[in-house]
Amino acid sequence: MILLTGGTGFIGSHTALALAQAGLPCVLLDNLSNSPESTLEGLARISGQAPVFERGDVRDAALLDTLFKRHPIRAVVHGAALKAVGEGLAQPALYHDNNVGGSITLIRAMERAGVRRLVFSSSSTVYGNPALAQLPETAPLAPLNPEARSKVMVEQLLHDVAASHPDWRIFSLRCFNPVGAHPSGLLGEAPRGQTLNLLTVMAQAAAGQRPPLSIFGNDYPTPDGTGVRDYIHVMDLARGHLAALQQVLQTGPAPDTRHWVINLGRGQGLSVLQLLQAFEQHTGHRVPHQWAPRREGDAASWVADVTQARQHLGWQAELGPAQMCVDAWRWQSRLLGE
Ligand code: UFG
Repeated sequence: MILLTGGTGFIGSHTALALAQAGLPCVLLDNLSNSPESTLEGLARISGQAPVFERGDVRDAALLDTLFKRHPIRAVVHGAALKAVGEGLAQPALYHDNNVGGSITLIRAMERAGVRRLVFSSSSTVYGNPALAQLPETAPLAPLNPEARSKVMVEQLLHDVAASHPDWRIFSLRCFNPVGAHPSGLLGEAPRGQTLNLLTVMAQAAAGQRPPLSIFGNDYPTPDGTGVRDYIHVMDLARGHLAALQQVLQTGPAPDTRHWVINLGRGQGLSVLQLLQAFEQHTGHRVPHQWAPRREGDAASWVADVTQARQHLGWQAELGPAQMCVDAWRWQSRLLGE
């Protein structure tokens, strides 16, 4: 059994499916603070099986102890975190309590249970506003806000944890910009708050569900002046988490390195305008849009160097912009139809 924290979140729920399909059933732990319970129905309809779900908070040490006693947990995929940049700027203590405090509580519970195999969902936000066109994992870390700093802190914590005991095997996966949805249209991004990824905002604007898309900034030092990101399909990210999990589950003598930090991206940047064009081309729907000033805390460009992911995980992204757009649109259309 695998414990998957943040199991009903965007990346968590898709990862749960990838794991189950690979014969690695999970216990999903989530406090549902930023995802609806209906995610569980989507998971059940896709897999034909009700997921094992525990509603609770990763900061609850007693609950974690109970879970480790109740289920034969071999490893943890840790995705439970708050992720809205603006909210983190306004409430830094809340963010550090959830993201750093939650990770510390989890690791201590893992140590009590003798479970020392962990995959941590980190983020490309650790790189801040990078000067490099492509970011290897060795690029300087320069987090711009509390949410990003919390990811850096957890990575550093995991570095120390891995060094503390020969049984630890840990991956920190720096996820670039997750978009898309499950191809069934039954699972996708469904946050409670207003923080949505760009492609979801585009799909909602195209559906007339929200005002026109505001494009934040047209004067970035990028080919067309709009922000560039390494968008990656959430199904690819889920497979990336699975690949890392399969590695930490391996037995054998303790390697010298026990904490690996890996970028999960496509290695290809798309600007806001390029993604908008792709959306219109592949879905046949126009995205009403307007120009807006830069958004505070935004970087100009983030593109992953994916060499390590290929070499260490044997993983690479397979789905391109067409699939991202079509799947995001299918998910939004289904939500609209309900
Ligand atoms: N953008 C717009 N208009 C919008 C929304 C976004 O122009 O309405 C632009 C942004 O300025 C940026 C790009 O679209 O250039 C992507 O923005 P997102 O909000 O989709 O994603 P971010 O790059 O800001 O970062 C997100 C999360 C981070 C996470 C990161 C990588 O906010 O927490 O993806 O996973 F770390």
